[in-house]
Amino acid sequence: MDETVKKYLNELKKMGIEYQILEHPQLISVEKVQEYLGYGMADAGATLLMKADEKFVAIIRRGDTKLDNNKVKIFLGVENLGMATEEEFAKITGVPSGAASVYIKGLPTYIDKKVFEKKYINAGSGSLLVTLRYKTSDLKKIPGVKIVDFTEIKSDEKISKTIIGKKRILSGITPSGDGSLHIGNYLGAVRQFIELAKNNECFLFVADIHALTTVQKREELEKNIETLILNELSLLGDLTNITFFRQSDVPMHTELQSILNNVTSLGLIKRAHAYKDKLQKNQTEEDINMGLFNYPILMAADILLYKTDMVPVGRDQKQHIEITRDIADSFNKTFNKKIFKLPEPFIPQEVAVVLGTDGKRKMSKSLGNIISIFDDEAVIKKQVMSTYTDPTRKHATDPGHIEGNMVFTYLDFFGEKKRVEELKGLYKEGKVGDVEVKNFLFETLMKYFAPARARYQELKSNPQQVKKILIEGAEKAREVARATMVEVREAVGLTNQYSFFKY
Ligand code: ADP
Ligand code: TRP
Repeated sequence: MDETVKKYLNELKKMGIEYQILEHPQLISVEKVQEYLGYGMADAGATLLMKADEKFVAIIRRGDTKLDNNKVKIFLGVENLGMATEEEFAKITGVPSGAASVYIKGLPTYIDKKVFEKKYINAGSGSLLVTLRYKTSDLKKIPGVKIVDFTEIKSDEKISKTIIGKKRILSGITPSGDGSLHIGNYLGAVRQFIELAKNNECFLFVADIHALTTVQKREELEKNIETLILNELSLLGDLTNITFFRQSDVPMHTELQSILNNVTSLGLIKRAHAYKDKLQKNQTEEDINMGLFNYPILMAADILLYKTDMVPVGRDQKQHIEITRDIADSFNKTFNKKIFKLPEPFIPQEVAVVLGTDGKRKMSKSLGNIISIFDDEAVIKKQVMSTYTDPTRKHATDPGHIEGNMVFTYLDFFGEKKRVEELKGLYKEGKVGDVEVKNFLFETLMKYFAPARARYQELKSNPQQVKKILIEGAEKAREVARATMVEVREAVGLTNQYSFFKY
């Protein structure tokens, strides 16, 4: 056990705070640590180091709760409140981000009262490899500690995003479809990314080179890319923590792929699902291009170039991340240098597949069962009006069913909770008709996506603005990619006194 922890344990002893030592491997999120230790998020205590105006404070909250910033501001009488930056964190705590202990000497400490609803709580020790199980009543012994009411219980969905420290997150989207996104894409992918981007450093790119595996008509590809860029940018809105770029604007992706080809075995790639599925669908090897076969290696290059910690993807992509880890490991071993980080997939469990307006199959453009986000109002209205509700209900006065009723499924995601619950009650009693609830869904969606739809119009009529975003994104991406490639070239032996290449 390292010295920092030993010292900290001594201090705890002096204060009369009991603890149990729980050791574990270094895992990426509090959730993973808790899972490893056999506990839930409600049994975790998270130390937030916050900057309140010019002062720093420590706030301890339970893992399944979220901070109400306004309450904190009012209580502390400050105007500005935010998380401490990585540097500030390191300077004040002297430990890696995510490892903060409950008691940080010299820092005003506030503990949310929900912590005390638990008899014991697992929290930081100063090391990412050790968690301490504290008796919560003992925490009141921390000098000057205040017990406060700062939080509310989080929904399950948000819990899985309790990631330790700031991570580098990367994801790619292939413009193989027409590029327009529907509410299924939003709920299944975009929304998670926006959530992750609040506290992490994110890279998001349009995997246009990947798209060449299937789209081989110039006009079609260009149109797909354009639409996808406009859709994504409009939904994302705030790009503060997001570097958004096109894969083809960063040539290091393909350069790294070429190098990785040499540490990737044929067997590994032959086991990839995408390729195997094609073979099973009666396609012969003659019908499969090498771009498709090598797809996982380009994807590994995409991820490894940025020393990515986490890759949020759909379940179908999990194998690609495993292959990426294999390739990274193989490179590091072959060249005897730890250049690449082994990324983790981030597949939020709660993101079930969103069913389409037919109420039967996954919402998907090709099945024609979508609700669009950026189409004309009339189109969206029509999609909403044709949404599957309750087939057993003949008249608006018949008692209706909520389960499997897609209008309410969507309302649960987008609607104002109180109003939705009210409507559900009325619907079950036969006091509100299908048309009325559908109208409400339509209005709800229009309101929910109004900012994104406005951005879409703005960006569409202002290509220069889009271009600027892409140029800036590509420059930032290239900077990171270049640094990695310098290391890679060096590690494999491509730089010696006779090498003249400069990025
Ligand atoms: P698909 O998964 O149908 O091929 P895309 O590749 O365009 O569609 O999907 C982009 C992202 O949106 C993926 O992360 C995918 O998991 C997510 N997504 C697509 N359709 C749905 C859906 N009906 N429900 C939830 N997520 C979805
Ligand atoms: N293969 C991914 C998909 O079909 C897209 C993708 C390409 C990607 N490169 C990536 C996703 C790198 C994450 C990281 O969804």
